[in-house]
Amino acid sequence: MKKPTQSDQEPAPKPTGRVPSLLRGMKDTLPTDQPFWNQIIKAVEALAQSYRYERIDTPILEEAWLFNRAVGKEADIVEKEMYQFPDRSNDLIALRPEGTAGVARAYIEHGFVNLPQPVRLYYSGPFFRYDRPQAGRYRQLHQFGFEALGDPHPIIDAQLIAVASRLFSSLGIPVTVQINSIGDATCRPVYVKALADYYRSRKNSICEACKKRLLRNPLRLLDCKEPDCRGLAVDAPQTVDHLCDGCRTHFVSVLEYLDEQEIPYTLNPKIVRGLDYYTRTTFEIYADGDEAASAQSALGGGGRYDGLIEQLGGRPTPGVGFACGIERLVHLMRERGLEPPKPLAPDVFIGQLGDSARKLSLKLFDQLQREGVRVAESLSKDGIKAQLEVADRLGVKYTLIVGQKEMMDGTILVRDMENGIQEVVDIQKVVTEIVKRLTRGQSSGRIEPIPSQPGAEIHAD
Ligand code: HAM
Repeated sequence: MKKPTQSDQEPAPKPTGRVPSLLRGMKDTLPTDQPFWNQIIKAVEALAQSYRYERIDTPILEEAWLFNRAVGKEADIVEKEMYQFPDRSNDLIALRPEGTAGVARAYIEHGFVNLPQPVRLYYSGPFFRYDRPQAGRYRQLHQFGFEALGDPHPIIDAQLIAVASRLFSSLGIPVTVQINSIGDATCRPVYVKALADYYRSRKNSICEACKKRLLRNPLRLLDCKEPDCRGLAVDAPQTVDHLCDGCRTHFVSVLEYLDEQEIPYTLNPKIVRGLDYYTRTTFEIYADGDEAASAQSALGGGGRYDGLIEQLGGRPTPGVGFACGIERLVHLMRERGLEPPKPLAPDVFIGQLGDSARKLSLKLFDQLQREGVRVAESLSKDGIKAQLEVADRLGVKYTLIVGQKEMMDGTILVRDMENGIQEVVDIQKVVTEIVKRLTRGQSSGRIEPIPSQPGAEIHAD
């Protein structure tokens, strides 16, 4: 049968009688949000550079199979929240709900096993979860994440946790890491059995969802939010009491390395995480003073995933990583009044009167910019009054006025906005003069000059 093509598709009916609106759970990142985002990404890049993590970008679309296999078919973010659909070739694809699976796929696909280990990678971008939208939960969310693959040593876990902790501190948010170990393929089954036995004997006191969890994924019983289940979780068997020697030694070492780096942490036996790939270390990061801390308000989370790459068909390769939700971080920064530094205001405004002045102003603007001067204009406006209002609002130091008369004389009026003094300056000298004045006054610092190009001279023609 012939596959459907674009031209076979009916054009979408035009919506009538309503204005378009955001899809539920989606969010625009507005210009007022951007300084927060920029600051976060800059901090991520700076930390990545100092800890030698390299950037990787994996596609937003992957085979749905990848997440079924890596994260687990029964994990909430796959079973209940993954956006998946057949594409035009009828392959089942998914919008990535998280980043680790794609990184693991890339590690296998590009033979990163042949590189010096650990391979340290970081990423940032959009992820998708068909979650119930509420404060701090979106259907398109953004994360940045760090992954270190190919090294089982506990110091790698501790260093990675240090990256996370320092990143938040550098943004003015002190955090505490809540940490646990969920063991490995040797000891976890023994623990899960003890946990299931505990809950089975209290089956009548647990919620309906937990009854299902008891059959399908008893570990998840521990992070149920229902009050009765929370009460039961307090006395439930703890993973740390069931760790095999290897996992216990690993966990103790991670904690020692955290102590060594003075990273604040608390042990929390309920940090079991909702993704199937985790082994040994699991952790979540909470802002200090966030009293209502719950999994919903975790800034980030992560852990070890020593079986993941093998599970996906690669050679046995350990790994550890974490990811953080950017929207949650921005929300917290706002809540705590952690405003990013404002961009420097322009120093110079060009005002103009008449069409030839407007043309000359275009060149002057370009010349000043090339000299690294922060310059603003309102070239589409006609009246000088309206333009001067803009200059005032921007708080510039100098306004250059290119008028009809000045054009004829080959001059420009330079107005010092602080004292109101106006001077007539030769049009050919105005750029040098402005640069000199700004440098002398050691204004807020010039931006890097752009190398000048031939033909950029100003002529009052
Ligand atoms: P996760 O805990 O599912 O872990 O997500 C990490 C962070 O993403 C959360 O702590 C939260 O800040 C943010 N987040 C999750 N869901 C939403 C949502 N619906 N809306 C807004 N923010 C959200 C992972 O994704 C793992 N891949 C982390 C990891 C990396 N483990 C090892 N390496």
